[in-house]
Amino acid sequence: LCSENKTFSDKTVIEYKNKSSIAKQFTPFFLKQDSVLMDYRAPHHTAGFLNANFSGSREEVLVLDVACGSGWVAKLMAELGFRKFVGVDGSKGMLEQAAKTGLYQDLRLALLGTEPLPAQTDAFDVVMIVGALRDTFVPVSVVRELCYAAKPGGYVCMSRVDPKSESGAKYKVCLEKELQLMEDEGLWTHVISQEMDRYMMDVYYDDQYLYGTMYLYRKALN
Ligand SMILES: C[S@@+](CC[C@H](N)C(=O)[O-])C[C@H]1O[C@@H](n2cnc3c(N)ncnc32)[C@H](O)[C@@H]1O
Repeated sequence: LCSENKTFSDKTVIEYKNKSSIAKQFTPFFLKQDSVLMDYRAPHHTAGFLNANFSGSREEVLVLDVACGSGWVAKLMAELGFRKFVGVDGSKGMLEQAAKTGLYQDLRLALLGTEPLPAQTDAFDVVMIVGALRDTFVPVSVVRELCYAAKPGGYVCMSRVDPKSESGAKYKVCLEKELQLMEDEGLWTHVISQEMDRYMMDVYYDDQYLYGTMYLYRKALN
């Protein structure tokens, strides 16, 4: 079931090359309009979730914002006192928007699942990924790379929309299997998970919201 995840990245690359890719799908205009229309709240929930469960010095810590998009997560975290950010995204247009926030000390282009996460091992105090852990976006295999990028004792904070499709449901099963496997391997420990009742509006049903889940893990010290 889960080995099929590899096809997400292959498919994404083909679409990327055909210009019907995430790069086109997530033009800044699209996301800005779309996020308002869909009342996309995952960044607020996830930044708040991390903040509520984080005890380190916010000014000092280095945050890796994976699939950073236009930089919304960093903006919200900056309001909570976080200061140092590095962003990664597969879309050049989104990185250009992220650069305009002036919050990132570095922005790196990479199509995850196909290209390695451009981050040093053991380098980040906090690794965030919001709005990208789903089928056709970032494959499950990348979660391991998020953990590698975190410092020993650092945090990996992830959020995911609850699926309504068969492929989405499959992604959820595979993701949660991988999270557990990594804990069994001693790579990290589970800190807390929390449901979100308003991840974003369901585009198919006007007055209904899609649910989501947030996960926080702490990388092992050795
Ligand atoms: C819904 S947006 C979320 C942006 C931001 N994290 C937020 O919550 O506002 C999803 C982002 O993931 C990026 N993305 C999707 N698949 C990706 C991949 N395989 N590699 C890198 N970035 C990817 C898109 O370019 C887009 O910027």
